[in-house]
Amino acid sequence: MHDLDTRLNAAIGLARAAGDLAMRYLPQPGAAQAELKGAQDWLTEADGAVEAFLAAQIADLFPQDGFQGEEGGELRTGERRWVVDPIDGTSNFARGGARWCVSLGLVEGTTPLLGVLVAPALGEIYAARRGGGATLNARPIRAAVTTDLRRATIEVGWSPRLPDLAFQNLANKVQAAGAMLRTGGSGAMGLADVASGRLDGYIEAHINLWDVAGVLPILAEAGAVVSPFLEGPGPVAGDLIYAFAPGLAEVKDRLMR
Ligand code: IPD
Repeated sequence: MHDLDTRLNAAIGLARAAGDLAMRYLPQPGAAQAELKGAQDWLTEADGAVEAFLAAQIADLFPQDGFQGEEGGELRTGERRWVVDPIDGTSNFARGGARWCVSLGLVEGTTPLLGVLVAPALGEIYAARRGGGATLNARPIRAAVTTDLRRATIEVGWSPRLPDLAFQNLANKVQAAGAMLRTGGSGAMGLADVASGRLDGYIEAHINLWDVAGVLPILAEAGAVVSPFLEGPGPVAGDLIYAFAPGLAEVKDRLMR
């Protein structure tokens, strides 16, 4: 069996178990129940528990691979590195919402090798390995065939890490181009929606490696046009990310300028 298939199958199993664990912490809908690391920067009990679970399981199964998590940082270095976001979309999770996922990616240098997103409250699992296609609940997915921004729906991600103007500029350009504007609180899920064709584009002025490591191989395998996140400062300091339906590759520059 292909080495990456072994790892992908293991990653799907681990991410499913991690998703079940996270569900045990999901609060009832209502006001957000979580610690604030800063304004709108949430930390739930589930984040720590899920990351600790995945770190221990991966160390057991693949001790030769590196490991990096959102909460604990880089625990092991290695040519191949697993990158985990225990809960992406924490602001949704913290108030009992459904739009969040556990994200698990394996990267080697600037190459995304495989990725899995499990969104247990939505009953969805996205998975891909390099050269093996991308799936949603085991069915193949492709980015949308949209070619006209006036028919497009585009998500712009927001975080408290940049001044609000960075978001507002992008949002204004999306609306001025005639596209429908969305913002949904989970970068990984927004990008996965581009891979499955539910969205035509996702842009965020700054996002971190753990938010995107799981979804990058899914986007690549689904034929989306994606910014070269792993080739710039992204892996160390975070960076801008965009992903678009391939038919919007030409016109995307109107939004990015
Ligand atoms: C955040 C979410 C959010 C995105 C931010 C991320 P978290 O991750 O993905 O949608 O806009 O850039 O930091 O805090 O939910 O893991």
